[in-house]
Amino acid sequence: MKIPVIIDTDPGVDDAIALFLAFSSDKLDIRAVTTVGGNIPLEKTTKNSIDLVSYFGKSAKISKGASGPLLRELETAEWVHGASGIASVKLPKGNIELYEKNAWDTIYEEAIKFEGKLNIITLGPLTNIAIALMKYPDLKDKIERITLMGGACYIGNTTPAAEFNIYVDAEAADIVFKSGIPLTMVGLDATHKAVVLEEEINEITSSGNRVSSVVKELFQSCLSVCKLYGAEGAIVHDALAVAAVIDPSIISKKEYYVSIETKGELTYGKTVVDIYDVTKNKPNVEVALGVDRERFVQMFKGMMREYA
Ligand code: BDR
Ligand code: CA
Repeated sequence: MKIPVIIDTDPGVDDAIALFLAFSSDKLDIRAVTTVGGNIPLEKTTKNSIDLVSYFGKSAKISKGASGPLLRELETAEWVHGASGIASVKLPKGNIELYEKNAWDTIYEEAIKFEGKLNIITLGPLTNIAIALMKYPDLKDKIERITLMGGACYIGNTTPAAEFNIYVDAEAADIVFKSGIPLTMVGLDATHKAVVLEEEINEITSSGNRVSSVVKELFQSCLSVCKLYGAEGAIVHDALAVAAVIDPSIISKKEYYVSIETKGELTYGKTVVDIYDVTKNKPNVEVALGVDRERFVQMFKGMMREYA
């Protein structure tokens, strides 16, 4: 049976690549794409989601979510993703109607339908999930797992301590991490090892099929930003979270107790990972630490065949 999933996202260059990967997979039954303000404002993440799913020639409910964090102003990242959110890529205007329910109501609707089997993949700030959990207290028992791109054991990319998706709405992340829902955190510890090298990008996109020039532009935009930071290839963070649901064995992981810093002046948004079990708290998160990079790259090659 396919895995029923909702993808909560803020496209986003790497979100777009992640969506390409997700919609190419015969392992996933994508029930909905729910949008959130993050990399760019909500209106644009929603438009990009509609345009992308239409461009893939697929269908899914697309539901609009929160325009900004629970308590703070939204901080966006146009300098990474461009003003449109998908760099210089121009897509035809999509033809999917926005679903009548908003993100949190759609999440609940699908959770009820799948009786505990629904998975959620989050590729942006956790605002929609936190709102869903606050509005529907029984939701926590109706989700099989949340696989989230966010956080890290050791590093930050938005502040020295915090990764972007957690930093943007740490209060929301705190609610999700305390929810008791099984969590897999695909953070920077793993995504920084999942680089796709320039020659691999060329191989992946050399097929000349109907999506290859768009995929190439997305990868190359990601590559140029990553090179500014000395990375040896493109780090497509969000795609690794999708890959980890399609094939969980692609990442290596360990269970830890993880909490979210919401007060720290220098550390707001840090995922505090109890690596040495000093708190003796029961682990609440499966933390991705490594990746089978070769197989990750192979997955993209398989993805391109699906769009041929
Ligand atoms: C995360 O931040 C966003 O800019 C990316 O889309 C990804 O979800 C990486 O820290
Ligand atoms: Ca994202």
